[in-house]
Amino acid sequence: MIKAKVAAAALGMALLCGVARADGDAARGEAKFQECAACHKLETGVNNVGPSLHGIIGRKAGEVADFRYSPAIKRSGITWTADTLDAFIKEPQALVPANRMPYAGLADPAARADLIAYLQKASK
Ligand code: HEC
Repeated sequence: MIKAKVAAAALGMALLCGVARADGDAARGEAKFQECAACHKLETGVNNVGPSLHGIIGRKAGEVADFRYSPAIKRSGITWTADTLDAFIKEPQALVPANRMPYAGLADPAARADLIAYLQKASK
């Protein structure tokens, strides 16, 4: 219960610190996705080091049935939207402390917007 509240507070903070930009370029985002593609596929049910990102927009965190998530992701209570993805990609450990995604974060807001524009298009 307490952990869920902490996670909710962290999410609130992350969202206050910057709302995702809505003007991303999906073509540039596709190139940027190469950083993620080492671990994530966009096809349904194809898990790698990370879970499939098929249908990620609008999905609840930790919901791919046959992927072993960390307890941190499972308990996060996050629904992946442009805003929550933006916060997660910016600094995964800040949004979901103790998650097991080995990715330091992407500081450039424009690059994150491009990536999210690509995910919105390509993860359907
Ligand atoms: C080195 C491997 C690796 C890289 C690179 C990586 N990820 Fe991940 N990702 C993971 C792992 C492992 C998890 C599961 C984490 C957990 O359970 O704590 C994850 C989880 C996620 C989740 C949550 C999925 C869900 O079903 O809730 C999202 C969203 C995500 N990654 C997006 C990205 C994006 C976007 C990038 C590129 C900017 C990226 N990841 C780069 C390994 C990686």
